[in-house]
Amino acid sequence: MTEKGLADVVAAETSLSDIDGKLGRLFYVGYDIDDLAQYSTFEEIIYLLHYKRLPTRDELDELSERLVSDRELDEFTDGLMPTFGEVASPMSMLRTTVSAASAYDPDGWDQSADANERKALRLIARFATLITKYHRLRTGQDPLPPNPKLPHAANILYMLFGEEPEEESARAFDICLVLHADHTMNASTFAARVVASTLADMHSAITAAIAALKGPLHGGANEAVMKMLQEIGDVEKAEAYIKEKLGHKERIMGFGHRVYKTEDPRATHLRRLSRELGERSGDTRWYEISERIEKVVMEEKGLYPNVDFYAASVYHSLDIPSDLFTPVFAASRVSGWTAHVREQYADNRLIRPESDYIGPRNQAYVAIEERG
Ligand code: COA
Repeated sequence: MTEKGLADVVAAETSLSDIDGKLGRLFYVGYDIDDLAQYSTFEEIIYLLHYKRLPTRDELDELSERLVSDRELDEFTDGLMPTFGEVASPMSMLRTTVSAASAYDPDGWDQSADANERKALRLIARFATLITKYHRLRTGQDPLPPNPKLPHAANILYMLFGEEPEEESARAFDICLVLHADHTMNASTFAARVVASTLADMHSAITAAIAALKGPLHGGANEAVMKMLQEIGDVEKAEAYIKEKLGHKERIMGFGHRVYKTEDPRATHLRRLSRELGERSGDTRWYEISERIEKVVMEEKGLYPNVDFYAASVYHSLDIPSDLFTPVFAASRVSGWTAHVREQYADNRLIRPESDYIGPRNQAYVAIEERG
């Protein structure tokens, strides 16, 4: 019996992340996401996912320095950026530049475990540069060199906007990166592991993951949520808008989840951030519309918001353009993807499932002249 969409099929063993869908809990290497969102930083999460334990202060400092020194793009990829700034959508830019960068990685086609560790950190560091440089170029602004004094999250905001972010914004964005870093066998992570299982290189696996994340049923949902919030525009219009969509059997983006049967714990943190950022800026409109949508979708369909729902208003409050929401998701998730690829390489077997054949059988071949 085929389980459509591979629901409930266990596709791999992992010691990276774990979900309790009934209780609405998420763990990275056994640590509760609630604790990590409260106390941790994105750099610490990168360490946790890649070395499967929390770092000491010295280890964290060393990792942070490595990430800072890996932020600059290679010359070839850098040269592509002006063209991509003109012609490519952000996720297409990311997919293509990561693929292109494979040929210029200092470790080349070296597939050793050490080389893959270095490639992983390089990719994590450079995603930030790719996204921000692309945005500066497409908006006619000079790209900014990375700021070595700033941690990963704050540096992304700095390279986008040209100013060091306020502490609250930097921390809010850092929490977003913590929350998006890994999520068991989601579609993009699975795609990365399938490619890695053929022993193709790290960049190929991450290119596949970006392609999978792009779709609106996965990472693309956060951008679609912002579009919906803007279409609604006024909290009083939210109920009628949602009811009309549901009446036409349309999906409400940012709701529902394959694994969570209750609230996605990441949504809890993002809801709080959405409210806090709105209050701080004096514009709670997007939070209020979101809250009203959540109420109506719960009443009408019994569905909970997922990670993408409140991420939209949070990113919007941080002035991140809507079409960069999914790339920003990728800038975090690349930490999980690369850790999964390394995990796959470390104990590999080709991922090659079966299919149920449902087509005709025993057909007699008819010469082309005789076909009606
Ligand atoms: N809006 C309206 N109805 C939804 C819905 C949504 N966002 N998500 C699920 N449903 C409904 C489906 O229509 C279906 O109803 P039916 O049984 O009456 O046909 C039922 O819930 C089950 O949906 P299904 O598509 O089988 O669930 P899934 O596990 O395959 O899908 C998602 C999971 C995430 C793809 C799905 O919930 C969705 O499309 N959400 C919107 C996109 C999104 O936010 N993606 C980001 C995920 S983190």
